Amino acid sequence: MTCRLPSRFAPIALAAAAVSLSAVGTAHAQSADVLLDCSACHDSTASTPARPSVPGPFPDLSGQPARYIAHQLEAYRKGLRQHRQMEKTATALGEGGAAAMARLYADAPQPDLRPPAREEADTTGWSLVVNGAWERGVPPCASCHGVSADDTGRLAPILIGRDPAYLAHELRAYADSDRRSDTMGRMRAFAAQLTPSEIDAVADYYGAWRSQEDEP
Ligand code: HEC
Ligand code: HEC
Repeated sequence: MTCRLPSRFAPIALAAAAVSLSAVGTAHAQSADVLLDCSACHDSTASTPARPSVPGPFPDLSGQPARYIAHQLEAYRKGLRQHRQMEKTATALGEGGAAAMARLYADAPQPDLRPPAREEADTTGWSLVVNGAWERGVPPCASCHGVSADDTGRLAPILIGRDPAYLAHELRAYADSDRRSDTMGRMRAFAAQLTPSEIDAVADYYGAWRSQEDEP
């Protein structure tokens, strides 16, 4: 999870600063600078977040579909996702700033990730991803969560290679209906059908995808 391309985050920090100047009034500019410094928290190359007072885990946004990112920022604005600081960030960005950041992160290059070898993959997690659990109404995760960002109009995010702690945290939030950004309520329904150990297993499976650079 640690070895990614650090250089791609510099333009994102700069663009966030530009968004803060254009989208936010000067009266709020100072606090907005902190809220809008996306890479302080969304830099997957950092082993510890730059803002330890903010509760994580911190998701990596690069290469996510633009429509998904914009939809999440709207969900924070509307209180469908709860995170005090991200609610403020999304409100400060507004609709225009959110669209700009969504395009920027969607265009950030994604590392070329490989699945874990079958013998190393968590079999419970792997099975949920490719087979689902139809008897409980859960389709295969892979039927919606693709592995590349070429379809930027998609609403389902990319899960491969992402921090398992973050993925498990979000699945628990759906299961408890704390996160209600899924417009049809489907992720809430699926997550509520998973046991706590299945949630950890599927998050670990996705987290085990590795870029070639990380391979020994
Ligand atoms: C101080 C830390 C911090 C800053 C600064 C920050 N974020 Fe976040 N962001 C988080 C955390 C933590 C989460 C996960 C919150 C949760 O669990 O819902 C998050 C979640 C998100 C998500 C949802 C990700 C997903 O996969 O669903 C998006 C999109 C996002 N942030 C965009 C931004 C953008 C754009 C900026 C800059 C304009 C920004 N954030 C600034 C901490 C931060
Ligand atoms: C019918 C399509 C569909 C299926 C099947 C599906 N998902 Fe999702 N998933 C989505 C959509 C759409 C979203 C975005 C919802 C939102 O805006 O909150 C999502 C969001 C998520 C998120 C939040 C990621 C983030 O960046 O915050 C996780 C984690 C997740 N799904 C895991 C799973 C797992 C694990 C499975 C299989 C057990 C699964 N999904 C099956 C469509 C699907």
